[in-house]
Amino acid sequence: LGNGLAPTPQMGFNDWNAYGCNVSESLIKSTALAMHNNGMQTAGYSYVNIDDCWMTHSRDAAGRLVPDPAKFPDGISGTASYVHSLGLKLGIYEDAGTATCAGYPGSLGHETTDAQTFASWGVDYLKYDNCNNTGVPAQTRYTAMRDALASTGRPILFSLCNWGQENVWTWGAGVGNSWRTTGDINASFSSMLSIFHSNVGLASYAGPGHWNDPDMLEVGNGSLTAAESQSEFSLWAEMAAPLIAGTNVASASAATLSVLTNSRVIAVDQDSLGKQGTMVSTSNGLDVLAKPLANGDVSVALFNETGSAATISTTAAAIGKTGSSGYTLTDLWSGAVSSTAGTISASVPAHGTAMYRVAGGSSGGGTSATGEIHAVGAG
Ligand code: GLA
Repeated sequence: LGNGLAPTPQMGFNDWNAYGCNVSESLIKSTALAMHNNGMQTAGYSYVNIDDCWMTHSRDAAGRLVPDPAKFPDGISGTASYVHSLGLKLGIYEDAGTATCAGYPGSLGHETTDAQTFASWGVDYLKYDNCNNTGVPAQTRYTAMRDALASTGRPILFSLCNWGQENVWTWGAGVGNSWRTTGDINASFSSMLSIFHSNVGLASYAGPGHWNDPDMLEVGNGSLTAAESQSEFSLWAEMAAPLIAGTNVASASAATLSVLTNSRVIAVDQDSLGKQGTMVSTSNGLDVLAKPLANGDVSVALFNETGSAATISTTAAAIGKTGSSGYTLTDLWSGAVSSTAGTISASVPAHGTAMYRVAGGSSGGGTSATGEIHAVGAG
């Protein structure tokens, strides 16, 4: 969407994956403070997003949405003021139907009032869901809210959540800053894997201001292993996905925080060229993905879908790097730097992902004259 927002995929937090309907002002404020203090804000996470269940079951006499006074004693505006005081932004949730998925009032037919209300509260981001939509085409319903948001004059990132229905990727770029490509994720490897398969082929539809959204992160949740959490974060970055943390960040383990704040992996997601990575090869559950980067480097992800450790190999040429007798590889998880004449290979644990930035030679995808300076120079 040409509203100037999300030139790179949005980064932030949303409460749904960890808390479901149990959202509150105190949760949002304590999460914002934790992000401010634990390195997440510095790493690029800027939006603190409220999901479903924040409001009362009826509108006020003027037709406006009403924050639940028990959950949000200072309202959304008071919550926004606090979040803004930390240098963060506030997101909210509504639905493009008659009711939200949890049964609270929806915005269908109330788009102008609701957009004005959100803007008056200081909201910076709207996640717009698809329940109870009475069969009205999604493009009609989502475009109405796009126009209502634009009329407020406030920059509000518009995140479409119609679960990949009605081929949203074919029209989403004109309507929203991102669009969900699938149903809801859960904290299991099988869920993450099936969403990855649905999202990875949609690269041509994504770019600055308009991103495929394979749903919020489960890093730190459920029984995901360390390798699985690292895979989700690697693959989401390689696919230029919005990085919306979905765990309890105030009590996140050091291991979870080190995944969520890995600056080398985040730099791949946030690369200014804005290309979603693509599958270069896949064989028996061993996948090679490549993402061209703005300075001519290419990010490679070697993903082992299988339940046993395996060696995954590719070459510089296969990922679009040519013209040099040697290339520099930076392991984005360990930080180790090595060189290669062309082979890129790693032993990858079950359900794990190795990730490298490949520098040197030339590449078909990126532009080379951005003036960016990187620790690893051309080889
Ligand atoms: C839908 C969305 C979820 C979440 C819930 C809230 O299922 O896809 O991300 O917002 O609604 O009810």
